[in-house]
Amino acid sequence: MTKAFRMDEVQPRLLDETNQNVIGQPLARPEGYLKVSGQAPYAAEVDVGEMAHGVLVRATITKGRVLRVHDEKIRKMDGVVDVHMLDRMIRNPAQGMMGESPEQLGERIDYLGQPIGVVVAEDFETARDAALQLEIEYSEEEAEVDPDNASNTEWTDKEDYGDIDTAMDRAEFTVDSEYHTAAHVAAAMEPHAAIAVWEGEKLTLHGSCQLIKFNVKELADALGIAEENVHILSPYIGGGFGSKLGISPEAVAASIAARDLGKPVRVVMSRQQVFDSVLRRTETTQRLFLGADADGRLTAVGHHDRVSNVPNEGFSEPTNQATHFLYSGANRRYSQETARIHRTPSGSVRAPGEAVGMLALETAMDELAETARLDPVELRLRNIPETHPETGVPYSARMLAECLKDGAKEFGWNQRKAPRERKEGDWFLGMGVASAARMNMLLPSEARVTLTPTGAIVETDMTDIGTGTYAILNQITAEMLGLPVELVEVRLGDSSYPSAAGSGGSFGAASSGSSVFLACKAIREQIAKKMDCEGDDLTLSGGIARCGNREKKLEDLLDADIVETAQIKPGKTGKEAFSSGFGAHFAEVAVHEWTGEVRVKRMAGWFAAGRILNERTARSQCWGGMIWGIGSALHEHASHDPRRGHIVNRDLANYHVPASLDVPQLDVTFLDERDDHANPIQAKGIGELGISGAGAAVTNAIYNACGVRIRTFPATPDIVL
Ligand code: MOS
Repeated sequence: MTKAFRMDEVQPRLLDETNQNVIGQPLARPEGYLKVSGQAPYAAEVDVGEMAHGVLVRATITKGRVLRVHDEKIRKMDGVVDVHMLDRMIRNPAQGMMGESPEQLGERIDYLGQPIGVVVAEDFETARDAALQLEIEYSEEEAEVDPDNASNTEWTDKEDYGDIDTAMDRAEFTVDSEYHTAAHVAAAMEPHAAIAVWEGEKLTLHGSCQLIKFNVKELADALGIAEENVHILSPYIGGGFGSKLGISPEAVAASIAARDLGKPVRVVMSRQQVFDSVLRRTETTQRLFLGADADGRLTAVGHHDRVSNVPNEGFSEPTNQATHFLYSGANRRYSQETARIHRTPSGSVRAPGEAVGMLALETAMDELAETARLDPVELRLRNIPETHPETGVPYSARMLAECLKDGAKEFGWNQRKAPRERKEGDWFLGMGVASAARMNMLLPSEARVTLTPTGAIVETDMTDIGTGTYAILNQITAEMLGLPVELVEVRLGDSSYPSAAGSGGSFGAASSGSSVFLACKAIREQIAKKMDCEGDDLTLSGGIARCGNREKKLEDLLDADIVETAQIKPGKTGKEAFSSGFGAHFAEVAVHEWTGEVRVKRMAGWFAAGRILNERTARSQCWGGMIWGIGSALHEHASHDPRRGHIVNRDLANYHVPASLDVPQLDVTFLDERDDHANPIQAKGIGELGISGAGAAVTNAIYNACGVRIRTFPATPDIVL
């Protein structure tokens, strides 16, 4: 039976007292060799025997309806076996996790490139050829695709604290600036892929999924079948970044086609399809208002943002998420507009909210520092609030000041000069800083741990999207049960296992890790009983249980396996403490005087995210986030066709991400921290902390180098000059 725990009922102590010293170690991923040697089967590579191949058919108009499908010609092609139109297609896969029912599209088309059907053939090439030749008659409607000139714009209610207008009037120093950030694409290395296999009523889907328990619901819903009949397997995933939060079209298409055909069907998206028919991060226009007194203490903080999405989508980028809690200021205002346009739907892309919201906020803080003639590090330190500026709730562990101070010292911040004062040849040199913040969440998560006489097995439908879940769940188990990591086997990505939080919103490691911790704790209690010992007196190490001066080998102690299933749930969250990861980014850049080219010379991040579960995988997450920060500062920009709205740079040759030579040595330092309020293992999310604020450190460094203020991202040479 599952033991369920609420966060406010659990004691987060035991990990520190086990003394195994496995948690935190830079354990290499146990599955890493299988992945890099090509032996780990990703969704498209699973061997299911004979199968057919499906290729998605996509709308060639921006807005309208399908009137008729002329498939007579392609049905006669050699090797073509079937054509399905997808009238129950799910449009925005991001919504599933919010608990909303995915919208059924019918034959309506809302953006160019929208998947509307699937052509199935004996081989992939034939299917691709036939999908391109399928003739579809549409009724086409006029579509608006420009967010700046949309006639349909929805406003959220203004959120006001105090009186920002008066505060801005009375402020000694003010900033009122507008920022533009580009649309981004997740573009995970592994494209979206699925193989569907039916046995009678039962569907097995080999997919690439971040949130398996929601994906089961969504897929069952799309197919009109019971959830019990859907089995999803997703043990290896080549990245997600939000694009695989919800079930996506290839999985639905493969399932429909395989059911009709009576044989397995595989559907893999091309890179171009991933780019323009999964989801994107919206472009934003943001306006920041900051007012400060003579000492540089904030009195006013305002954040307005304009984002876009297709009509009727529930998701709007939570652009101002960090603005709510990062800095003090009694008078505050937030508002948002969502332009309803016909571009690829927007949804969650790594650190939805902070990733772009903090580009604006942290640039505005740099502008305020300039205006108030304060050092940007000092300005931030002066504005760290005592308690949450809106709710008065205290913060849980928060080492923002330490990150800023230690970082400044180590980075050599005191070498920073005024703009245009440091020059090497034709290159101006400058330094920039930005805070990092990403709110922390705990989601319900369940795991089963089995202790056998020779080791332990962990089972949960948690996913590892490349983040290191296999490693950290192993380490928690090894720590708690006193086993070497080689004797712990972690099994993930199978919907028949207990339901985990899944990977998203940086909640995965701490949520799933807490459930494994609690299951292991329950196993320890069983062992203590067998040893006739108080739980606290029990030590487990090297496969030996000790109590006082008595000790017993686990293999002698266990007459049968011990199986425990535990679930963590959030408690009365948010009332006692507000939990977030924090950090500080420092960057040094060189800007070429004549070409406007920007080179990042050094970059360093100091992060405090509670207990670090694995130093190596945590560092890799921060590296990835900081590199994406460089990308959002200098390179990444999904360009939309001004007439038809689709993304024109829809592959990794044309959509520029930082390449090796764009990324200098990135130093990552973790501060030692425990967050008692966050979850039983005192860890916080780290997958999205590294990107939050990172890009602004780079563009603030551009200002410090050459005196050009970057308010449009990315800062390509035409913007810098
Ligand atoms: Mo994340 S963008 O919630 O996978």
